[in-house]
Amino acid sequence: MSQRETWATRVGFILAAVGSAVGLGNVWQFPFQTGANGGAAFIVVYLAAVFLIGFPAMLAEFVIGRRAERNPIDAFARLGHRDWRVVGVLGTLSAFWILAFYSVVGGWVIRYIVGSATGAYFSGSEAYFGAIAAGPDAVGLHAVFMALTVGVVALGVTDGIERSTKLMVPSIVLLLGGLAVWAVTLDGGGAGYAYYLSPDIDTLVANIGSILPAAVGQAFFTLSLGMGAMLTYASYLGRDDSLPADGATIVVLNTFVGLLAGLVVFPILFSLGIEPGSGGLGAAFITLAGAFAQLPAGRLLGVVFFVVLLLAALSSAISLLEVVTAYLVDNTDRSRSTLAVALGAAIFALGVPSAFGLPILSWYNAIAYNLLLPLSVLCLLLFVGWVDTDDAVAELRRGTGLGEGGAVAWLWFVRTVVPLGVLVTLLLGLQSLAV
Ligand code: PHE
Ligand code: NA
Repeated sequence: MSQRETWATRVGFILAAVGSAVGLGNVWQFPFQTGANGGAAFIVVYLAAVFLIGFPAMLAEFVIGRRAERNPIDAFARLGHRDWRVVGVLGTLSAFWILAFYSVVGGWVIRYIVGSATGAYFSGSEAYFGAIAAGPDAVGLHAVFMALTVGVVALGVTDGIERSTKLMVPSIVLLLGGLAVWAVTLDGGGAGYAYYLSPDIDTLVANIGSILPAAVGQAFFTLSLGMGAMLTYASYLGRDDSLPADGATIVVLNTFVGLLAGLVVFPILFSLGIEPGSGGLGAAFITLAGAFAQLPAGRLLGVVFFVVLLLAALSSAISLLEVVTAYLVDNTDRSRSTLAVALGAAIFALGVPSAFGLPILSWYNAIAYNLLLPLSVLCLLLFVGWVDTDDAVAELRRGTGLGEGGAVAWLWFVRTVVPLGVLVTLLLGLQSLAV
């Protein structure tokens, strides 16, 4: 078997991981989750969830991946615990499942770039979404998005993923930053900043039961945890840089992009008197497109915004495809490109039903979000916290100045606070699936 690939540079790994993290979850879901959960009050809980629960959990994935230098399934066997491979299977299947409908949404984004340029949705945003979100056209664009994803993964870890994310991630930050600066000039946008940036403690306390699971779920999704994506990316490290330092950089950059997206979305909506409320998967598209239609230079703004969204979605989708591809690359003699194409085709097929109706897509999403993701994160945490303990602590400290105490503090987080947070989210999420 040929030599396993590794990242060419440390920055390359960090940007690839940020690319995985920054996705539809930040730019599209986060502002609207915030809107649905009482504005800034939600953000406070979300930030706590990201740093206290998401960050330690990300380090747990890194520790397994870097030490095992294998895909999520074989990683557990390599670390001497064959029985735990089922956790890797769960993560890998989750990646497969999520990419299936994530790609359908990616297809919508491509459509909205074109629709912005031509002004196609300017005469009726809701009707436009209804027309494009489901049906043969949605399937076609799902295929296009999947083909782009396959193209990058087929080129390999360094030549495909590392190279492309090195371009995509800085572009996302620059374009989104430009939009945020432009948004400052909007009349009446001030109410948006107030809503977004000044937490209302009463709202927070009154709704903590729904805010907490939403915030924790969002933290996991946005950090790409539970699907083996971060584990797989860390398996290509082959170097001794500090995992906590790299992880912190990734978490901070991802949070920064999410907050930046809010600084674009909220002033736009409030300047037009639009409530950012809830409303499911399609609402963000309908609401935002409706806003662009009313703004001067709305076409240009729409194109830029949806290009950002496409880059974000693509850099996440490749990490999902890489999880599944890595398993076969590690275990067969076929070429990476053949495997990526075959897997892309299979995942495309799985996603087709969700391109035929929004309720189906929402159902795919709910399964992933409320069941697969928390369950898989929970198992991973139990493994690192209670089974692979000593080796995990040593691996975390490798290449760092981190003392024994710091590593043990992390371990206790991974043993207690983090799984408890996940468990609560899982139970509340299951409850929402049942109703
Ligand atoms: N983090 C991505 C987002 O915010 C989604 C994702 C989840 C990507 C899991 C890869 C793995 O959109
Ligand atoms: Na991304």
